[in-house]
Amino acid sequence: MATTKPSKIEDLRKEVDLLTAAAGTADQLMKALTLLLHDKMLKYNWVGFYMLESGTSPPVLVLGHYQGAMTPHTRIPLNQGICGAAASSGKTVVVDDVKSDLRYLACSLETKSEIVVPIFVSGKVVGELDIDSHFPAAFGVEDRELVEYCAQLVGKRLERA
Ligand code: SME
Repeated sequence: MATTKPSKIEDLRKEVDLLTAAAGTADQLMKALTLLLHDKMLKYNWVGFYMLESGTSPPVLVLGHYQGAMTPHTRIPLNQGICGAAASSGKTVVVDDVKSDLRYLACSLETKSEIVVPIFVSGKVVGELDIDSHFPAAFGVEDRELVEYCAQLVGKRLERA
């Protein structure tokens, strides 16, 4: 009987589930997710979390665990960058060509496309998962679903803490 081969992204979801079960804390889960996504996906060239600093007015996104090149953007106000746009709107932002998006804050000259997915706890944005690619339009529907799935798992784990 013919069977459909699971896609790489379906396989990766299983690994994400295993990691989530194994991670003791949200912090460990975030670190493990950056390693997994960066290692397993050729087009995910920078993978990192930004978390909203509590108690800062106005609020600022602060760089957390990441894999990839060092970035000058360790603190991003909510009114700046693709990162600020995703956190302030509470919506996933996918940019196929970063050069054509005026909001874009450059992290590496090699970056061509980017996805930023907000993380929610009790309905409020607490941070986000940001992925940059050296390839244009690297983030299709399946990628978006995978990254949103990861962000949801982190939100659930933070909610439990
Ligand atoms: N490109 C992001 C800044 C973060 S770096 O990509 C790591 C932005 O436009 O907000």
